[in-house]
Amino acid sequence: MEAQPLNIRAEADRAIVWEHDRLYLLDQRLLPAREEYLELREAAASATAITDMVVRGAPAIGITAAYAVVLAARARFAESAERWKERIEQDLRLLAASRPTAVNLFWAIERMRGRIATLGEGDPEAALLSEAMSIHREDAAANRAMGDLGAALIDGPTSVITHCNAGALATGGYGTALGVIRSAHVAGKLRQVYADETRPWLQGSRLTAWELSRDGLPVTLLADGAAAARMAQGGIGWIIVGSDRIAANGDVANKIGTYSLAVAARHHGVRVMVAAPTSTIDMQVASGEQIPIESRDPREVLFCGGRQVGAEGVDAWNPVFDVTPAGLVDAIVTERGAVLSPDREKLEKLMA
Ligand code: MRU
Repeated sequence: MEAQPLNIRAEADRAIVWEHDRLYLLDQRLLPAREEYLELREAAASATAITDMVVRGAPAIGITAAYAVVLAARARFAESAERWKERIEQDLRLLAASRPTAVNLFWAIERMRGRIATLGEGDPEAALLSEAMSIHREDAAANRAMGDLGAALIDGPTSVITHCNAGALATGGYGTALGVIRSAHVAGKLRQVYADETRPWLQGSRLTAWELSRDGLPVTLLADGAAAARMAQGGIGWIIVGSDRIAANGDVANKIGTYSLAVAARHHGVRVMVAAPTSTIDMQVASGEQIPIESRDPREVLFCGGRQVGAEGVDAWNPVFDVTPAGLVDAIVTERGAVLSPDREKLEKLMA
């Protein structure tokens, strides 16, 4: 099959597109300078796209993996109509190895594996595509629900600080943290959004600022180190962030820098809200200490925009997530409801 260009305008709500029987990802490494889609035809290329940050954000990674399973099933069924279920296991393993922290990846792969198990003889593509589309659609719907639940907790109008990009780009649409911020904006509760620039990948300046400004929300960028000083000036009601994995006791793994933001928030009497779908809650993991934290190439810190900024010969420590203890979190907002001052008992009740 020939490559078919995707003739649509790039939009945050269309970061992941299934069209012409193929998967297209808005290449988030190029934003905001270039708005280009990358076409993916195979599971292996999709796994590489996840590792290389073409697509990022916990729910978006899971949705991408679900569509990649459709591509894998197509190839494996063409190879062998009898043995495709056995052979696809290596594709599922490859996808699961693409990034370690966001539990949505493993959640989505498990859901696709479960669907595969129910299939009989015959071409599996239509059934698996329908499952991947459901995962995609359900995530966008969950974000709308979370948006309203989260916005209801905000006494506005107030300003908020967000970290990384937990927006439409990072999800099936609308966003988790940015979903709450969008709903608060619609409800007239939002004065200003301060977006941490989020070194080293600059998801805040490149993605959150792009996404919010295109949609007409009032967004101001902050160097990560400026957030505490902005809190000290007053007028910040909430820190609102997403999550890559929430442990059973309410500890929250999210983009590196979230923990220091939460510590500073507690000092300044600013509340912390984590917006995440229940697919981000991992009840198998008792506390944050057990969440695998991805470490990436030191060059991501030593270079900026392709230019070396670290002194020659110097090393860098580059964990890309950190864990905020549950005690520093005021609310976890999911599509099933908001949990205030989260702990194990409350999360068990929510997930029951
Ligand atoms: O490394 P990234 O860009 O994948 O990290 C993303 C985050 O940390 C987000 O805050 C998190 O996935 C929540 S996205 C709705």
